[in-house]
Amino acid sequence: MPCILLTGATGYIASHTWLALQAAGYSVVGIDNFVNSSPKVLERLHTLGGQVPQFVQGDVRHALALDRAFELGRDQFGGVDAMVHFAALKAVGESTQIPLDYFENNLGGLLSVAQALKRHSPDGASKPLVFSSSATVYGNPERLPIREDAPLTSTNPYGSTKLIGENILRDLEQCDPSWHIAYLRYFNPVGAHPSGQIGEDPRGIPNNLMPYVAQVAVGKRPHLNVFGKDYDTPDGTGVRDYIHVCDLAEGHVAAVRYLLDKRASLTVNLGTGQGYSVLDVVHAYERASGRPVPVEFAPRRAGDVAACYADAGLAAKLLGWRARLGLDDMCTDSWRWQHLNPQGFEG
Ligand code: NAD
Ligand code: UFG
Repeated sequence: MPCILLTGATGYIASHTWLALQAAGYSVVGIDNFVNSSPKVLERLHTLGGQVPQFVQGDVRHALALDRAFELGRDQFGGVDAMVHFAALKAVGESTQIPLDYFENNLGGLLSVAQALKRHSPDGASKPLVFSSSATVYGNPERLPIREDAPLTSTNPYGSTKLIGENILRDLEQCDPSWHIAYLRYFNPVGAHPSGQIGEDPRGIPNNLMPYVAQVAVGKRPHLNVFGKDYDTPDGTGVRDYIHVCDLAEGHVAAVRYLLDKRASLTVNLGTGQGYSVLDVVHAYERASGRPVPVEFAPRRAGDVAACYADAGLAAKLLGWRARLGLDDMCTDSWRWQHLNPQGFEG
């Protein structure tokens, strides 16, 4: 079976994708510099996947580190057949504080990854690459649900790295048709592996809703601040398209299969198509955990949109992929991970 090289491999989404690829029969090699993840993820991947993870510790901006990962793929599995580029810094607020670091890491990393894939592909051979993009490229959406042909814009440096990243790769495809790229625009990934052994382990105070709610439910924080209660939404709080990380991982398996079979590019939303409000999430989490999640209403968070959810039809049509898990599954699996690992991987 083909071998897939994952960058950012010990991160939240990549670690779930690693297991999904292995379960689908693919071989996997990973690279990560642990800037936002723990080496302990590798022990859990070993236990859950039943195979020693083939892994290189290194920064994707360093050509030699990527070369080592390609060599590992060649030595263990006869060569790398496709790449999934997850490695990036991803905190919107932080990106406004240290924009240059975001450009350097996310865009420098992307260029270095593309150079390595080119370097390690024979002349004219297909270069299959999955790019982790984001619903953030839609900015403040004009129409809901959001289709892939909606106007694109960026509202912060992190979003710019995703939009510019997509544009760089589109130019590359135009210049050289051997690039086959899957632009996957994720909506709001949440939840955890049903084993409770891997999940999202944010450092410091969580920026995102579900990890924050999880920490309130487990007693680490007293209450959730709900940012805004006067949006034009059914209950006045922000609406998002939450997608279970295991469904998202399956979306990557489908995208890799598409690239290898069809030798063509595609751009798709990975979401459920269903929007839930902040209060919907809070109530679902209370049900899943059996714990109270006290809330306090706070002003709107700068840069937030009222509602954002996907038209998930194109991914179903092109990839034959649809999200299967609902909000209750997302909360149940998040809670299992949270209460089995109250201190995350370092506990
Ligand atoms: P994450 O931080 O858990 O994973 C990213 C991984 O990349 C981390 O393990 C980090 O250590 C690694 N990394 C970062 N820079 C690196 C570098 N220069 N060299 C090597 N490794 C490096 O984040 P995630 O939530 O799993 O996100 C994965 C991808 O999906 C990112 O590209 C992110 O922008 C994108 N994305 C995430 C979300 C979300 O809400 N989680 C939404 C849309 C898009
Ligand atoms: N929210 C709160 N309180 C919190 C945290 C969040 O009320 O403590 C609200 C937000 O105001 C928003 C909703 O919960 O209405 C979801 O917020 P998140 O921060 O979890 O998610 P966002 O939709 O703002 O952003 C996420 C990622 C971005 C990505 C975007 C689209 O953080 O990087 O999804 O994929 F671009």
